Amino acid sequence: MTKTIKFGIIGGGLMGREFASAAARWCHLLEADLRPELVAVCDTNPAIHTWYKENFPTVTLTTADYKELLADPGIEAVYCAVPHNLHAEIYTAVIRAGKHLMGEKPFGIDKAANDRIMRAIDENPDVLVRCSSEFPFYPAVQAIGRMIASRQFGRIIEVETGFLHSSDLDPNKPINWKRMIEFNGEYGCMGDLGIHACHIPCRAGWYPKNVRAILRKLVTERPDGKGGKVPCRTWDNATLFCEAADPAAPGDVFPLSIKTFRIAPGEKDTWTVKILGTEKSAFFSTKNPRRLEILEYAGGASQNWQQIDMGYDTAFKTITGGIFEFGFPDAILQMWASFLYEIEHGAPKELFAGCVTPGEAAASHRLFTAALESQRTGKTVSLELKTV
Ligand SMILES: NC(=O)c1ccc[n+]([C@@H]2O[C@H](COP(=O)([O-])OP(=O)(O)OC[C@H]3O[C@@H](n4cnc5c(N)ncnc54)[C@H](O)[C@@H]3O)[C@@H](O)[C@H]2O)c1
Repeated sequence: MTKTIKFGIIGGGLMGREFASAAARWCHLLEADLRPELVAVCDTNPAIHTWYKENFPTVTLTTADYKELLADPGIEAVYCAVPHNLHAEIYTAVIRAGKHLMGEKPFGIDKAANDRIMRAIDENPDVLVRCSSEFPFYPAVQAIGRMIASRQFGRIIEVETGFLHSSDLDPNKPINWKRMIEFNGEYGCMGDLGIHACHIPCRAGWYPKNVRAILRKLVTERPDGKGGKVPCRTWDNATLFCEAADPAAPGDVFPLSIKTFRIAPGEKDTWTVKILGTEKSAFFSTKNPRRLEILEYAGGASQNWQQIDMGYDTAFKTITGGIFEFGFPDAILQMWASFLYEIEHGAPKELFAGCVTPGEAAASHRLFTAALESQRTGKTVSLELKTV
């Protein structure tokens, strides 16, 4: 009999609903030994409560006050998906209430906010805290993760990761909180997209040793949705040129580039990873979600990229047949399966089948803060990052 764990959501917007929907189809998972039961939703917008009440008979508490949700001793775990300026206040409150937390990225609006969250985690070692990042759960990326873990790439030549959007190409798109510095933070596109692009390099242990950043503000004002215009002060695009090294070969420094673009013409929601190695190379993009590209170098002049059709080969087994396609809601379900697996078992099922750890999120804050300094000074900024 599957055990249940009672969940509350704080911030029931776009991502809150994604979690609720994943929880509603938990029967999709074949081997889950823990099941989330959604019992409470907090959102300051009362209109949001209706969708949850209509779809989740288990929800018995809806409130605009997160403290009311946290006061309920029956709630064991919380998903918090609120604007970035609220992360530090609400995440620390959840952790100090003794509830497991899946927090959204960037895990604090800036480094000071992230430091506050990290302190609360240190003081409460019994709660599991993780940061949401779903793209590594695509089957092709799971396969790449297993190749990294079994050291199949040989010497790393170069690594490129990216997360590219294009909807902000339209200068007439009205502003929302994600383009306002007071809610989104000075990191801009790095705060929005950066942890996603750092997940694989961090998990592989390829932490940047330094960064030279080139950041762009391409649209400096936007319609306010009321007939006027307001300044848009967040960074639109960031290219981070770094040096990194494999922990197994610390002196063998290679280029790592991380791109987070809100204005990338033609790219709707493109998450990519490319690893070039002396023995094997691999590429994946969500543009072709089932395609894994691999080049195995066997010597000689012949070097052929193979395109492999991945099926539904997931970290957490499901009812879906192995030949079928995998998509974004599936990645969300797998990520949640991973979080509950870690609550139950105390460790991820596999190295690359785990959510971003607080230490990895903290490393990303140090990288993005250094990137802002690099942009200001035009210089390369050194970093000493390691897994925490
Ligand atoms: N993992 C991903 O792929 C992904 C995708 C999009 C957004 N995000 C992250 O998720 C978080 C939320 O983004 P979103 O797109 O869901 O935003 P959203 O605007 O759709 O939802 C945020 C919700 O928080 C509510 N809210 C605001 N203040 C609140 C408060 N004090 N208490 C309770 N609720 C409050 C809002 O009313 C809104 O419903 C952000 O950190 C964002 O970076 C992650």
